[in-house]
Formats: sequence, structure tokens, C-alpha cells
Amino acid sequence: MSRVTRRPRFVAGNWKMHRTPAEGAALARECVALAAADAAGATRVQVAVFPPFPALSAVASAIAGSGVRLGAQNLHPEPQGAFTGEVSGPMLAAVGCSLVLVGHSERRHGMGETDAVVAAKTRAALRDGLTPVVCVGETLAERESERTAEVLVRQVTAVYAGLSAAQAADTVVAYEPVWAIGTGKVASPEQAVEAHRIIRATLDQVVGAEAGGSMAVLYGGSVNGDNAAALFAHSEVDGALVGGASLQAAGFWRIAAAAAAAP
Ligand code: 13P
Repeated sequence: MSRVTRRPRFVAGNWKMHRTPAEGAALARECVALAAADAAGATRVQVAVFPPFPALSAVASAIAGSGVRLGAQNLHPEPQGAFTGEVSGPMLAAVGCSLVLVGHSERRHGMGETDAVVAAKTRAALRDGLTPVVCVGETLAERESERTAEVLVRQVTAVYAGLSAAQAADTVVAYEPVWAIGTGKVASPEQAVEAHRIIRATLDQVVGAEAGGSMAVLYGGSVNGDNAAALFAHSEVDGALVGGASLQAAGFWRIAAAAAAAP
């Protein structure tokens, strides 16, 4: 059943391993200019960008005072220590991040991150004052063997079972079916709605309906300016986590504008 009241809309750009500091600052400045030119839209949608670590500071300067928020793509669960090559939550907060992705499928499936690791990173983000954007989603094999619901319930429960309702309310979930990421095969609105309902029902059960009902659940996977409006037409879809299409400011803003214009 669609909810009557819409939650705040949220459009996030995951730049993945793209853009140097100078390139990232230029892209961020273009996004800020588009947000300023669309003041009505910008008040209706929260926008965030997630550059690679080396570009965070340059992008933080480029978006300062604009309302566009800054996130990182990963963090280590510990605040400091002998973890060569890792970056901690306090370090991200210190360069201006207020958000961080956890459990992106490229880390779950490419870097061996388990549900337990994703849960630990989520707790660490909250401890360090960052809003975690918790990514979940099934692989093609899991969908084809009709295990989508089982996977989503498992991934969501692993993260949220350890959180209080107040902590949970300070997080965002991104449903990113692995088969739709970077493939051009966007989930149909019906597939996205069905998955979002499973996620929402699991959150309601694990953290309570009040916290669960207030959290944004984003869709990610081949979102672009042409398909975004059909996804956002459904009140279950609170926004998008955008990969490839977030690397061009105009295309990214079309998605933000579609979220702002959604009924
Ligand atoms: P694409 O939009 O490139 O499919 O990537 C989605 C994604 O993984 C965002 O985190």
C-alpha cells in the first residue's frame, strides 16, 4: 500500500573510482550552479555527492554553503589504528563528510565484505556522526532462483538488529539490485516497489514502524534522466543512488529535478 505522506526525497551521486580532485571540484561546482538555478527543485530534494577519498576536500570546498551534502564511499570500522590503506569515520567527518556508503555491492562482491562487516561499518558511521547509506540488493542468480526477499531480509536484519530505533532513524537504505548496476538494465518500477516494500516491512519489524517509516529507501542501478520519473512516481521510492549518470552534472540534476517533481 502506498503511503500518503512522502518522506524527504534524496538523490545521491556515487562517483565510484572517477574524478581527480580538480575534476571533482569542477563537477561539484556545476552541480551547485544547477541547484542554484533550480531553487524550487532544490528545496524539495536533498542532494549529495560521494567522490573518491582524494577528491573529498576539494569537493567540500566547491559545495561549501550550497546545501549539497558530501559523502564518502567507504570507511573502516575502527576510528584509528594500524590498518594500512584504510580511512576512518572521524577522518571523513574532519574533511566535511556527513554521509558514508556502507555495503555497496562492489564492496560486498568485489572486496568480500560480509553482512557482519557491513553491520560493523554502519555502527562505526553512527558512532562517528556520519549518516550511513546502507546498500542492499540481490544478484541476478539470487533473483532468478527466487531468493530476492530472503537476501533482502537477511541483509537488512544483519545491519539493523543491533541498532536502536533512534540510530536506525539516522540511516538511509539503498536498494541496489546487483544485476542493474552499471548494466543499463534498470529495475522496473514494479520490481523496485516490491523490493522496497520488503525492505520497509523488515525495517518495521526490526526497528519498529516509527523509525522504519521515517527512513528513506533509495533505488540504485542504471538510474538516468529518462527513467527516474517512473521510479519516483511511486511513494515507496524515496530517491536514488546514482552511479554513471552522476558523473555529468546536467544528467544528475535531471534526476534530482525528477525527484523534486514527483507527486
Ligand atoms: P549505475 O547508476 O552506474 O548503474 O550505478 C549504480 C550504483 O552502484 C550506485 O551506487
